[in-house]
Amino acid sequence: MKLLVVGSGGREHAIIKQLKKNKNVEEIYALPGNGGIAADAECVNIGAKDIDGIVEFAYNNKIDFAVVAPDDPLVLGCVDTLEAHGIPCFGPEKKAAIIEGSKVFSKNFMKKYGIPTAEYEVFSDIDSALKYLETAPIPTVIKADGLALGKGVIIAFTREEAIDAVHSMMEDKIFGESGANIVIEEFLEGPEVSVLSFTDGKTVVPMISSMDHKRALDNDKGLNTGGMGTVAPNPYYTDKVAKECMEKIFIPTMEAMNKEGRTFKGCLYFGLMITKDGPKVIEYNCRFGDPETQVVLPLLKTDLLDIFMAVRNEKLSEINVEFSDENACCVIMASDGYPKKYNTGFEIKLPEENEFEIFIAGAKNSDGKLLTSGGRVLGVTAKGKTLQEAVEKSYRAVSQISFENAYYRKDIGKRALMANK
Ligand code: AMP
Ligand code: GLY
Repeated sequence: MKLLVVGSGGREHAIIKQLKKNKNVEEIYALPGNGGIAADAECVNIGAKDIDGIVEFAYNNKIDFAVVAPDDPLVLGCVDTLEAHGIPCFGPEKKAAIIEGSKVFSKNFMKKYGIPTAEYEVFSDIDSALKYLETAPIPTVIKADGLALGKGVIIAFTREEAIDAVHSMMEDKIFGESGANIVIEEFLEGPEVSVLSFTDGKTVVPMISSMDHKRALDNDKGLNTGGMGTVAPNPYYTDKVAKECMEKIFIPTMEAMNKEGRTFKGCLYFGLMITKDGPKVIEYNCRFGDPETQVVLPLLKTDLLDIFMAVRNEKLSEINVEFSDENACCVIMASDGYPKKYNTGFEIKLPEENEFEIFIAGAKNSDGKLLTSGGRVLGVTAKGKTLQEAVEKSYRAVSQISFENAYYRKDIGKRALMANK
């Protein structure tokens, strides 16, 4: 089979490495991929948002199955267009991808169907938003409506910060048109859990849970990033929490999307907070998380392509999706300065993969060398019988990788290890 994977990050590298394990796979094209992915797939320089280019390539190259991984092409309707040209896909259609594409949609949707989430108000004009803030409980959380690369959220700990946030989103447009509408919501507290799930609209199968480390600096300090590391499973996701999530969140979400005429087929990501009143949805994503995928897929025992095809064909209930009972840890190595300004173009020296896997996110090939080209450069995942073992193995691997200007958090897994005690 000839496969196509749209996207260019560590998540896509993890998906591609997993798909390669299927013996029916003859060729994988990555659009656009990156310098590291090039070792595992044929990279073609067509951007993930160039829907016409992607469809033309898939059609001309007789692609048997396509996987659309990032949010942008999903929200733009890449799956709809590929399917309309006869190319079967894994990923939600545009009308279902809105669950991530619009926070206003997802908040109103959760309210309508009684799915637990933070209390909120929606604003489309700055004066009413500011008026509301005069008496809103503080801290408060301000979110831009549309996609903002995971950065469209400001947590305000004072009333002044909240007012500044509204001005910067609605007036200064720091997140562009994403900030035309905003959500102001209740500040929730508790450990966060990421649960990726497979769903075909009939069945929802949660994958092993994970914990992201979103802040740039150790001990959860510094700016929010795309994610600086992950562990799986997440110790806060107990059997009791899992059962409650299934009954109150996962199944109700799938059924409500069906009722809305927006059947979701693909990977539905639940960003959860385990509050003292039970699990609540912080956000939905219409795709695999990055770097959650880099710990979840290495623990998957079932063939990924079989699952993808079953989801596409609405036959997920026929597949027994199994995960290993090991633990995994992924440490992200970034360019120092990320998520703000950083320098790139430095050579990356990689060791032989041994008891760990490397997923490349931001690198390019130049004269036979692999050079850094992005904020998050790569992720190193190791597995262990215990979380402690997985964490130690990942950091041992990190110490064997070098590039100038490398930065990584030293405490990935620390919070999870403390919870285990
Ligand atoms: P999001 O892009 O919606 O995932 O938000 C980014 C991060 O902001 C989340 O991972 C949380 O850590 C935090 N966050 C979002 N919403 C809330 C909330 N209502 N209360 C507390 N923290 C939040
Ligand atoms: N790691 C969080 C996300 O993919 O949105």
